[in-house]
Amino acid sequence: MCGIIGFVGREEAAPILLEGLKRLEYRGYDSAGIVVVDRGALRVVKEVGTVDKLEAAMAGVRLEGLVGLAHTRWATHGGVTRENAHPHLSCDGSVAVIHNGIIENFAELKGALEAKGHVFRSQTDTEVIPHLLEDCLREGMDLATAGVELSSLLKGQFAIVAVSTKFPSSLLAMRRNAPLMIGIGRGENFVASDALAFVDRTNRAIFMDDDTVAVVSNGPEVKVLSSGGQPIKAEVVEVAHELSKPDKENYEHFTIKEIFEQPTTVGRVLDQDAGTLTFFRRELQNAKRVFFIASGTSYHAGMLGRLFLSENMGIYSEVVVASEFRSVEGWFKEGTVVIAISQSGETADVLTAVGSARAQGATVVSLVNRTPSTLERYSDVALKLNAGTEVGVAATKSLTAQVALLYRVSKKDSEEKEIERLQEALDSVLTTEPLVVKVAEAIKASKDVYFLGRGLGYPIALEGALKLKELAYLHAEGLAAGELKHGPLALIERGTPLVLINPVDETYEETLSNGAEVKARGGTIVGVSTQSNRLYDWFIKVPEAPRQLMPVVEMVPLQLLAYHTARLLNADVDKPRNLAKSVTVK
Ligand code: F6R
Repeated sequence: MCGIIGFVGREEAAPILLEGLKRLEYRGYDSAGIVVVDRGALRVVKEVGTVDKLEAAMAGVRLEGLVGLAHTRWATHGGVTRENAHPHLSCDGSVAVIHNGIIENFAELKGALEAKGHVFRSQTDTEVIPHLLEDCLREGMDLATAGVELSSLLKGQFAIVAVSTKFPSSLLAMRRNAPLMIGIGRGENFVASDALAFVDRTNRAIFMDDDTVAVVSNGPEVKVLSSGGQPIKAEVVEVAHELSKPDKENYEHFTIKEIFEQPTTVGRVLDQDAGTLTFFRRELQNAKRVFFIASGTSYHAGMLGRLFLSENMGIYSEVVVASEFRSVEGWFKEGTVVIAISQSGETADVLTAVGSARAQGATVVSLVNRTPSTLERYSDVALKLNAGTEVGVAATKSLTAQVALLYRVSKKDSEEKEIERLQEALDSVLTTEPLVVKVAEAIKASKDVYFLGRGLGYPIALEGALKLKELAYLHAEGLAAGELKHGPLALIERGTPLVLINPVDETYEETLSNGAEVKARGGTIVGVSTQSNRLYDWFIKVPEAPRQLMPVVEMVPLQLLAYHTARLLNADVDKPRNLAKSVTVK
C-alpha cells in the first residue's frame, strides 16, 4: 500500500527522499508528495500520478533542508487528488504527516477537531493526525510524549512519520499493524515502510514493533518507546543486500525479467537451514489440524501445498483465504498449525489471521520471501523463498518458489534432484514465448477468457485467470474443469477462448472431455500439456517434470500469456492500475 520514507541527516534531504520514493513506488502509485523542513518552514510538493510526475513538479521549487518526508499513495479514504496526496499539514503549517493504514475513528476525531476550530483540506482519514499533533505540541509536549498521546487517540492500523518545525531536527515515527523500519546510517537515519527505500545508504535497521513510538534524529541513538511511554531497547539488524537496487537489466519490464528468472530462483528453495526444515516438518506431523492461510497468488500456492501434504505426508489440511479466516478461527488453538504463505510478509489479511492464531495458542509456520518482515517475526518458524526482490506487482517467481518449497517440505527424499529437473523444465518452457505471443494476439480482443484445470491443474487455472485480470485488465475466470457443466458453460460463445491445463495424469481424459464440451459450443481451445490433441486450436507444449511439479511448469506460459496480452493492450505491466505490491490494509 502507501510507501513512506523519512530522512534526517547532514545532506540535502530532497534528492535522497526522491530516490527512496522511486524504490517504494511499487507500494502505491496514484499520487506522491514530499516535504522538507527548510529554514524553519515546511515546503511541500504534491502531485497526482507517479513519482516521475512528482519529480517534474519539484523542478524549480526550493526544497532545501536536511530533514523531510516523502510518500506514494494508494487511495483508501478520499479520491485521487492533489489535496488528498500526502504529506498532510496541520492548520498552522507547523506539522506534516505521512501515513500508511486506516484511521478507523477518523470521523469522530475530525468532528472533535472541527469543533475546536481546525480546518480540514482533504477527504482523507490521515489529516486528523497533523491536527492532533499540532494540538499536542501546542500544549507543550515533546515529540515522544506527543507520539505516545497520539497513539492512544488513534484507532485502526498505521505507520506514521511526522515532522514539526518546533523540533526541526527530528522525525516522529509510530507503528501499529503496518510495516515501519528505522534505517541507521552514519550521521543520518531513515524511517521507511520498507528497507528497500534506504538500503543503498545503510543496511542496518530497527524493525519497529507494533504499538511503539520512535523519535529519530541524525545521531546513532534512536529513542523507542512503548505505547505506554516506557523506553524499549531496540535491536539493530542487518537487512539482506539482495535488496540492493532492482535492475531491469535488458528486459523491458521487471515482470518479464522475473518470469525469466524462474529457472534460477526456483533452485534457491534448496538453500534452507536443515534444522528449520526439520522443525517445520515435525510441527506438521504432530499437528492435530493444519490450515494454510494466504491471499491472492499465495493462496493458489497454498492450494497446491494442501495436495502435497495430503499425498506426501498423509496430512489433511484446509486452505483458507486469509481475509475469511474467521470461518475457521474457532479451531485456532493449541495443537493447530497455521501455515502462512506470503511473498511480502506484510499482507494485512494474513497478519490479522496469524495474530488471531498466535493469540489462541496455535503454532504459526510460514513461507515468506521478503525479509525481515512482520510475518517472519510473528512466526514460530519461517522458511525463506530466496526468490529475490519481486518488483513487478504481479506475483510470478514468488509463486514458483512457494510451490517448490511446499513440495520440498512435504517430500523428504530425492527432492533435490527433482528441483533440478524442474529447473531444466522451466528453462525449456520459456522457449514457448514466441507461440504465446501469437496466442496473446488471438485473445487480446476477447470479452472473457476461461481457464480450466482439474486436481493439480485447478489452482493453476485460478492463477492463470488472476494474472490475465490484473495485468491485461481482461475478464478471466479460472474453473475446476468439472464445474463447467454446472453453470459456466452457459457463457461460452463462438470464439470464447478457453485455456485448458491438461497434464497427462489421471485427470487427462476427463479434462479433455470438458474441453470438448466447450469446443462443441464454438469455443477456441488453447491446450497447455505435454501431449498434443486434435481438440486444441492452439497447443502450447510444455516439457515433462515430476508430476506434482507440473503446475509450476504449466504456470509459466500462463504468466507469459498475461504479460504479452497486457503489452499488446498497452497496459502498465509492472504497475497495474489500482493495485499495489504489498497489501497492508484490510
Ligand atoms: C497477484 C498478487 C496478489 C498477491 C496477494 C498476496 O499477482 O500479487 O494476489 O499474491 O496480494 O500477497 P503476499 O504474497 O505478499 O501476501
